[in-house]
Amino acid sequence: MKVTVVGAGNVGATVANVLATKGFASEVVLIDIKEGLSEGKAMDIMQTAHMLNFDTTVKGVTNNYEATAGSQVVVITSGIPRKPGMSREDLIGTNAKIVKSVVDQILKYSPDAILIIISNPMDAMTYLTLKDSKLPRNRVIGQGGMLDSSRFRYYLAEALQEAGYPATPTDVDGMVVGGHSDKTMVPLASIATYRGIPVTQLLSKEAIDKAIEATKVGGATCTKLLGTSAWYAPGAAAAALVEAIALDAKKLIPCCVYLDGEYGEKDLCIGVPVILGKDGMEKIVEIQFNDEEKAKFAESVAAARNTNSKIGDALK
Ligand code: 2OP
Repeated sequence: MKVTVVGAGNVGATVANVLATKGFASEVVLIDIKEGLSEGKAMDIMQTAHMLNFDTTVKGVTNNYEATAGSQVVVITSGIPRKPGMSREDLIGTNAKIVKSVVDQILKYSPDAILIIISNPMDAMTYLTLKDSKLPRNRVIGQGGMLDSSRFRYYLAEALQEAGYPATPTDVDGMVVGGHSDKTMVPLASIATYRGIPVTQLLSKEAIDKAIEATKVGGATCTKLLGTSAWYAPGAAAAALVEAIALDAKKLIPCCVYLDGEYGEKDLCIGVPVILGKDGMEKIVEIQFNDEEKAKFAESVAAARNTNSKIGDALK
């Protein structure tokens, strides 16, 4: 299995690093426009191979799309990250053109690839990629829900600890749907559990609301601390999607996909639970939201449509 990661910044390099340590890919190509960056990061990763005991070859190239030919999965991280105080939506003017041109180049050399979009604003960039490439919707998947769900588990574990339960994030199950956006993502507290026990039985409404709010601004909180956006969790989230596809794992993961009537919506890309396997998005799983979550999901849909309406201008 050959995987390409476009963009050798913090997130792209982390994706390549996690993929290498997982070892299921024979080759990972890391490509960037900045001379030497991919080569340097790939070399650094390869020099951990002996210690971390992996056989994946990570190869870095500068702007040479020929080297990406025949990739089965391509992760697109290209574009600029946000700075403190910026929203993901603020990046559309710069990132839309970059993502469009990267997708065109990638498909020239890997026409059968499944594309995973990370560039922000991710839901709009996934929609742009789908529309521009005219690929079937199972092959264009945005990564946001995996990351946001992981953050939700982290904050729920913290809340459970504060309430006297010795929870770690792996003890907690929780899902976030809707857009990958500070204001409108939808953490689903009604189905979150601590080792099978609904968290609503163990935590106060106040504690749950605090975990929900912390999850929504999880990316912004990291950005404020780091001066740029996060990379370990976004990188690991993208690698988890690649793994589910590469191993045909049929895993249920919230991802940003094109809706064509599911959840009562059409013609937009937004986060919903899907099954990921060798064909990419193999099934959209429709679950029941409670009334509050339903209203929040509708707000999220409206916000995603609003961002999509700016793509045309952003490409001019
Ligand atoms: C985040 O939430 C970068 O959007 C990414 O950290």
